[in-house]
Amino acid sequence: MKVADLQIPESVKEIILRAGIAELYPPQEEAIRAGALEGRNLVLASPTASGKTLVAELCALEHVLEKNGKTVYLTPLRALANEKFDEFKKYTAIRKADGKRISIGISTGDFDSSDPWLERYDVIITTNEKADSLLRHKAKWMDDISLIVADEVHLLNEAERGPTLEIVLARLMQVNPAMQILALSATINNVKEIAEWLKADYVTTEWRPVTLREGILLHDEIQYRDGDARKIEKKTSNAIINLALNTLRSGGQALIFASTRKNAAVLAKKVADQVGEVLSKPIKRTLEHEADKILAAGEKTRISEALAELTKCGVAFHHAGLTGGHRKLIEDSFRQGKIKVLTATPTLAFGVNLPARMVVIQDYRRYEPGYGYYPISVLEYKQMAGRAGRPKYDKVGEAILTAKTADEADYLMESYVLAHPERIWSRLAVERIIRGHVLATIAADFAHTERGIYDFFGGTFYAHQYDVDSIKGVIAKILKYLYEEELIDLSGENTYATKFGKRVSELYIDPVSAVIIRDALNRKSLYLSDVSLLHLISHTPDMGPILRPYTRELDEMAIFTEEHREEFLADVPNEWEDRITYEEFLGEVKTSMVLKAWIEETSEDSIIERYRVQPGDLYRTIENAKWLLYATHELATLFGNKEVLPLALELVERVEKGIKKELLPIVKLEGVGRVRGRILYNAGYKTIEDIKHAALDNLINLPLIGPKLARKIKEQVGGFVKKEKWEKLERGEEWKQKALTEY
Ligand SMILES: Nc1ncnc2c1ncn2[C@@H]1O[C@H](COP(=O)(O)OP(=O)(O)OP(=O)(O)O)[C@@H](O)[C@H]1O
Ligand SMILES: [Mg+2]
Repeated sequence: MKVADLQIPESVKEIILRAGIAELYPPQEEAIRAGALEGRNLVLASPTASGKTLVAELCALEHVLEKNGKTVYLTPLRALANEKFDEFKKYTAIRKADGKRISIGISTGDFDSSDPWLERYDVIITTNEKADSLLRHKAKWMDDISLIVADEVHLLNEAERGPTLEIVLARLMQVNPAMQILALSATINNVKEIAEWLKADYVTTEWRPVTLREGILLHDEIQYRDGDARKIEKKTSNAIINLALNTLRSGGQALIFASTRKNAAVLAKKVADQVGEVLSKPIKRTLEHEADKILAAGEKTRISEALAELTKCGVAFHHAGLTGGHRKLIEDSFRQGKIKVLTATPTLAFGVNLPARMVVIQDYRRYEPGYGYYPISVLEYKQMAGRAGRPKYDKVGEAILTAKTADEADYLMESYVLAHPERIWSRLAVERIIRGHVLATIAADFAHTERGIYDFFGGTFYAHQYDVDSIKGVIAKILKYLYEEELIDLSGENTYATKFGKRVSELYIDPVSAVIIRDALNRKSLYLSDVSLLHLISHTPDMGPILRPYTRELDEMAIFTEEHREEFLADVPNEWEDRITYEEFLGEVKTSMVLKAWIEETSEDSIIERYRVQPGDLYRTIENAKWLLYATHELATLFGNKEVLPLALELVERVEKGIKKELLPIVKLEGVGRVRGRILYNAGYKTIEDIKHAALDNLINLPLIGPKLARKIKEQVGGFVKKEKWEKLERGEEWKQKALTEY
């Protein structure tokens, strides 16, 4: 089917053609034949990179241009939301019937807002979590949604985040029964079951843009699924490195999935030693430039230095311990073919469009602390294998598992290559996961009676797969808890949320976290300090995985605990009576110590070294801390706890920026973060007033502040830079351009 022959507005065709797409891929054609553009609910399950997004784009444009409708596009990750936003932006050139241009919005942050400004957008890209929080805030514009796109819908199977997607879809179906649903999925076994739940038709295909050859690497030979075999030159003693080198020589790129972050980094180092030697001079120059970009993005740390060194050799690693900025740089550079070999943890297999000719899966097992090793699912294997083959560059993509023995090779062929992906199961019926959703059902007026609550949960995928009776026990237990903790109350038959319950639901925190915070606020601490609040939030389940102390750190944490005993807003468990709880407490203490170091302006690199925390984890901890401190502030407002209010507010800002209190006034300036803020402060510019009076040249002479930033700073404080002065500065060749990223 040609794009030119499609029944869609000419303006849309033009843009698609200009993007280089003239012919639809078969799965796209099937989806359109199945009525996707006529408003039919549809589940489209087809392999990685088979072009599912374009179907969603066409549907969305149909709604905007022909039906005066509104589309919400749900993604599981912020990074994916950004990627989709970039893809949709090309349509903003099109004008609607009313003469206005199509508008595309994105909203992924701030869970305590209904974002009324989103009302004016035609297409809104968001994450499942943000959509859930918008529903809790009863965002009015959500009633106008005419199309919902649920991307990566196989996520339903994921224990932590699947239930949120399930709840969002169930709620939207409840409030907007007329809305069209388009669900996009990897190939899975029970598409029909998901389709039935969504009252949708379904299309499943096995079509791929590049042929996929799957096989097993044993020593120096690959055994393919079709019985073929191929020998790999033995350049080193490491079979995976040999395979990567082989791919490189044939002009392709390799993507290697390792089971842990550490393995990914170690392997990258080993590969780099070999690959660096075979690169040409011009390629090396390009890579030097890429390495500089990595060093310029954010504070310099041992991780950014290691990454930059590898990049010079055309190699990199990619995992959740890296900052978002570094991950993006590496992805772009791999996509542009500059980085030749990328080692990654499996998170990369998830929706990010990053194909390579050769995909190698180093280990089919995964390690879970406290659980040990377990084999990955077939679905996960297929997601990783599906990354093989770059359309337009590769004729064939290869996905290779590695085995140590012939027996293991047989096992892998049988259990992964020849196996079908598992069924997707709802993960909803877990108390910890759904207590917030039960509260929200009541607090956001989706149900007011016990019966109504069961009715709502009767519309979930869980109830479709099992039946609602099997979840009633869990819900009843949660209702009892919410009632006892005064988050909900009863009036005759009716259940309603108390003020506390309503606010907790809006704040998007676990009711258990809220109860912990409330009880702590009611307690008279002997001595309220930064540590009191930093520990309090680390003590709540919403802090997520705490930063586990290493054995050699335990003493240090124990001493810190003793020193700050008076400040904690929770009881310190008895070390001798309950060792496990005590060590968990030390983990919370470690989390608070890391946050404390961060707001005392300890450099990122020292934090990494001292606490062995990687930047990605540090940022996640900071994000969670900010949100929980904000929630603490809001709950303190609700309960009239005046003592905590100013401290909580101050900490929200300090944690956000990673600064001591004295920098608060000047980091409000754009372009001034913890590092530049400290430079300004130490040079005597301690307030906005000081900076107003500063001479431009004096600012320029400070380290890390070039003419551009100096001007930007002056303009923000109401200063004015004379045109002649500015031109003179710009002419000055000696001024190196300095990155304007926040530092
Ligand atoms: N008809 C087409 N012709 C050529 N290229 C296309 C066509 N349709 C989509 N593409 C390109 O294919 C690539 C992969 O598409 P897309 O990201 O939509 O895959 P997907 O099916 O969503 O995969 P995943 O399961 O990994 O999310 C994109 O770069 C897109 O521009
Ligand atoms: Mg996709």
